Amino acid sequence: MTMCNVFQWIILIFIMCFADKGGSLKCYECDNGQNPACGVDFKSYQYEARVCTSSNVKCGLQRQLPLFHKSQGTFIGVIRLCYQLGSLRGINETNGCRYWTSPENFTALYCFCSTDYCNGTISEARFPVILCVGLLIAYLVHLIES
Ligand SMILES: *[C@@H]1O[C@H](CO)[C@@H](O)[C@H](O)[C@H]1NC(C)=O
Ligand SMILES: *[C@@H]1O[C@H](CO)[C@@H](O)[C@H](O)[C@H]1NC(C)=O
Repeated sequence: MTMCNVFQWIILIFIMCFADKGGSLKCYECDNGQNPACGVDFKSYQYEARVCTSSNVKCGLQRQLPLFHKSQGTFIGVIRLCYQLGSLRGINETNGCRYWTSPENFTALYCFCSTDYCNGTISEARFPVILCVGLLIAYLVHLIES
């Protein structure tokens, strides 16, 4: 493999990883009150991420406190959506998760993030970039070893 090919690959990987930052954000939108697949144990393959229509958005995830039903067991409400900045007045909208209590005394965990599909799971909010860096390192290691 020539040096030229190597650079082409590196550039291609970077474009794949970081290209659509300026475009419209894609987020999951669902509610496990309607479909259990949206719950804490998220079955992302059942959903197509939606392109958020507004530009002033982040991907959002609301996870409610557990509700205990005598008959149905524990229910944890989960909502994923394109979150319009400013819609929850007073909440800190920086990326990450925090518990927040609304003026109506409704408390839940709210997570915001701003990369495509990032509201699939809370902990994987940074997954795409990590995947890209990993891919790049794996490729470079492969080059050195071959
Ligand atoms: C929001 O949260 C971030 C990170 O936790 C913090 O650095 C920032 O100061 C907070 N902003 C406000 C307005 O509280
Ligand atoms: C919310 O809770 C606080 C403290 O428990 C109470 O003072 C307030 O009246 C409650 N507000 C509403 C809208 O229920």
